[in-house]
Amino acid sequence: MSEGADDGHLLVCQEVTVAYAGLRALSAVSLTLDRAEIIGLIGPNGAGKTTLVNAMSGFAPITHGSIQLGGAEISKLSPERRAHRGLARTFQHGRLFGDLSARENVELGAIAVGCSAREARRRTHALLEEIGLLDLAASPASELSHGDQQRVSVARAVVAEPAVLLLDEPAAGLPAEGLGELASLVEHARSARGAGVVVIDHNVEFVLGLSDRVVVLDHGEVLTEGTPAHVRSHAGVAAAYFGTVGSVGTDGTDGTDEAGTRTVPVP
Ligand SMILES: Nc1ncnc2c1ncn2[C@@H]1O[C@H](COP(=O)(O)OP(=O)(O)OP(=O)(O)O)[C@@H](O)[C@H]1O
Ligand SMILES: [Mg+2]
Repeated sequence: MSEGADDGHLLVCQEVTVAYAGLRALSAVSLTLDRAEIIGLIGPNGAGKTTLVNAMSGFAPITHGSIQLGGAEISKLSPERRAHRGLARTFQHGRLFGDLSARENVELGAIAVGCSAREARRRTHALLEEIGLLDLAASPASELSHGDQQRVSVARAVVAEPAVLLLDEPAAGLPAEGLGELASLVEHARSARGAGVVVIDHNVEFVLGLSDRVVVLDHGEVLTEGTPAHVRSHAGVAAAYFGTVGSVGTDGTDGTDEAGTRTVPVP
């Protein structure tokens, strides 16, 4: 891969390695993200997806490699410094403040990047209106449905108007009807703000439908990357998920084909 400062990519990870007490959670993972690009990051449990987002956002120290944002090395910066430079993330296990209202939770995302209280209120109001959550703005986060909580979590990252938006399993536990609203919110961040987005989810259909490019991690390494169509036709992806080589791209609603072979659930 070429040097980040020269190639114009928004975010560049070069040979990023993260080790925890002897366990290599990530081994020399390289990845680029462009402005207004949505990358899907998929792979089985323990593949290293969250670790990669943690490394990008400053929550996991890297033991080798580099991470550049806009051509500048950021891998030694604190999470707060990276946030101020335009990197926002959500957490796999949502971290909303249950006693605070939806509005207050979202406002915190703007205040965290230095907005005044008034600007945070203005941005939050506009965003909640855009995504149809204004009616619930005053409700305590703990009283929202799971789907609305997920959207508030994403909104709290989007309100920072980040250059890079990292979403760790935003669709987890969502019913099918909640997926469209979530996808619209992610699309909004990309189209209105030109954000580059990395989205992790085990709902492979959701991720492939949303992404321009997909990176598949397995055992801390990039198994393959390419268009959603490439990933659908890559037999190794099904093998990574289920330990069997199966075709990817059958109806697969429950992850099995007619012969009962497990496949990646992709339409
Ligand atoms: N703080 C930590 N300390 C030790 N090991 C860790 C730590 N965080 C992650 N790991 C290990 O690193 C590997 C990758 O974990 P990671 O959470 O990145 O996987 P993942 O792809 O996000 O999985 P999932 O789909 O279950 O969320 C796993 O073996 C995990 O047990
Ligand atoms: Mg994870």
